[in-house]
Amino acid sequence: MDGANLTTARLEIRDLCRDFGGRPVVRGVSLSLQAGQVTGLLGPSGCGKSTTLRIIAGVDQQTSGEVWIDGQQVAGAGVFVPPEKRQIGLMFQDFALFPHLSVADNVAFGLKGSRTEKRLRVRELLEKVGLARFIDSFPHELSGGEQQRVALARALAPRPSIMLMDEPFSGLDNRLRDGIRDETLGILKEEGAAVLLVTHEPEEAMRMADEIALMRDGQIVQSGAPYNIYNAPVDLNAAAFFSDVNVITGVVEGALTDTAFGQFLAPGVPDGAKVDIVIRPQHLKIDFDRGGKGPSPTHDHGVWARALVDRARFIGKESLVDFRMEGDGSILTASVPSVFLPQPGTPLWIAIRRDRCFVFRHSDKPGPDAPSP
Ligand SMILES: Nc1ncnc2c1ncn2[C@@H]1O[C@H](COP(=O)(O)OP(=O)(O)OP(=O)(O)O)[C@@H](O)[C@H]1O
Ligand SMILES: [Mg+2]
Repeated sequence: MDGANLTTARLEIRDLCRDFGGRPVVRGVSLSLQAGQVTGLLGPSGCGKSTTLRIIAGVDQQTSGEVWIDGQQVAGAGVFVPPEKRQIGLMFQDFALFPHLSVADNVAFGLKGSRTEKRLRVRELLEKVGLARFIDSFPHELSGGEQQRVALARALAPRPSIMLMDEPFSGLDNRLRDGIRDETLGILKEEGAAVLLVTHEPEEAMRMADEIALMRDGQIVQSGAPYNIYNAPVDLNAAAFFSDVNVITGVVEGALTDTAFGQFLAPGVPDGAKVDIVIRPQHLKIDFDRGGKGPSPTHDHGVWARALVDRARFIGKESLVDFRMEGDGSILTASVPSVFLPQPGTPLWIAIRRDRCFVFRHSDKPGPDAPSP
């Protein structure tokens, strides 16, 4: 590895802001990317992801803040390096190939050098994306997925040190997408570019990124490895962006809140304030009713509470079971691997994995970013 990379980020954004007509759209975004690293910029529609990317690429300009590439400032007060001098590869959702150019000429489009050098690089990339046999074909002779891979080859051809990808897989059907995501990731890693991948799909971000920056309302609200972001969200919205969640609201007294599942710690929350205990559906545990009795409390699961099945659905890998809690009539949803379809009205006992709960101070403000449909 290049020694400089250990200290100098390949791409660094410092306190980037962008207003449109006085409306702040990007509000103090800072990010740092190393060579060979894939960062997923994840967030709901309209939160400012594409605007951030456009400023990095140099096709839009910030209101304030700085962009640095390999220790050199390319955007900032009085500094503007034009897009073509930034060594950035771009791949957007509406990646149009040039219809009148062959696959080879499309890939060679941004390349400099002799004909032979270009031909070699084009062949190398088309082999990487598994399309060498289409070298002399035209775009209309290729499927959507094949065109996507040509677009990737075209973006990578000039060996960009940074790749910016804006929802590059969203035009593909589901089954094609997984394969192309994995292939693309392999190629990006081989090429060693620093990659910023914009997506509003948590699964895509987790599948591809080494690090996720979660964006909301123009700001990065949390960043970290996918595992950490999923398992230690900063707030209810961050938790709910990655999966459906159950929310049990309680009132705090003496740093504790009482629920049907026993007491939960709410450190630092004043008496009388509300907290939300948040739990993903896969972390509910279910047990059978034994003549009105449930299992005894355990350290891992706390107190078990009785509930009646409201509805059960099989959705492939798992079943989703909605329960009506016997105490307050609230509905909780459990996901159970494989097939589990109890009849509505069946009494069951449920508990929650206490190590998988998140306790947050309750906010009455509705989340600006409920998970995208
Ligand atoms: N040129 C512009 N003029 C005015 N408003 C703009 C402009 N470009 C973007 N916006 C606004 O800025 C906000 C953020 O837009 P942006 O395209 O960055 O969102 P996004 O996070 O990429 O969303 P999506 O997931 O839907 O692509 C939006 O409300 C958008 O309407
Ligand atoms: Mg966008």
